[in-house]
Amino acid sequence: MNKAITKTIAFDVYGTLIDTHGLIEMLEHHVGVNAFVFSQLWRQKQLEYSFRRGLMKKYRDFSVCTAQALEYTSLSFGVSLTQMETQTLLDAYQVLPIFEDVAEGLELVKNAGFRLYAFSNGKATDIAQLLKESNISRFFIDIISVDEVQSFKPDPIVYQHFLRKSNASGSNAWMVSSNPFDVIGAVSAGMQSVWVQRSPKLLMDPWEIAPTVTINGFGDLVHAISNYPKKSPC
Ligand code: LAC
Repeated sequence: MNKAITKTIAFDVYGTLIDTHGLIEMLEHHVGVNAFVFSQLWRQKQLEYSFRRGLMKKYRDFSVCTAQALEYTSLSFGVSLTQMETQTLLDAYQVLPIFEDVAEGLELVKNAGFRLYAFSNGKATDIAQLLKESNISRFFIDIISVDEVQSFKPDPIVYQHFLRKSNASGSNAWMVSSNPFDVIGAVSAGMQSVWVQRSPKLLMDPWEIAPTVTINGFGDLVHAISNYPKKSPC
């Protein structure tokens, strides 16, 4: 059997397949030119809340982290959103746009014979909706959510859950993520990892744990995974 066929790939969703800064135009109505900074703080707080809930063992699903982070960010910007405005933003978060290199990249990865999963902090129903809206559900064998073990990335138990549920072993299982904390978390839990560094301005955390490989976009994914470990020239 072709060795590549046995490789299993976990795709992170928010920030990797789906653009968490896809609501800028809507945010401009509330904070004008500060929309991107607002969006960044919203995302940063959402992740911080998930990390804290994981550590404190106070799990609530990721949509709660998203909603509470929106409330914090609005307060921080001195914007008072009505209940309806809040709901409109949270509804839009359920249908965030896909990055433009993703669909074509997934097609190549699927055709190369890898086993593809979506693996996210989000609830499976929320992820199913995002993938459906973006027309990419067909590429995935299944959605594996941290919700099933009630913790968040980068808790090692969520990566172990992924390996168990996808029936994969660490050396043949790849985490593909744009989120440095997810890349480091997966490698630390024994998986291989691809960091998708979409812009040279984005930095990897300077830890003692590094991504297995780094790429600039989904177009390079098949090559990066198929070629690892690099075959030495004969
Ligand atoms: C996810 C987070 C990392 O989709 O955004 O799991």
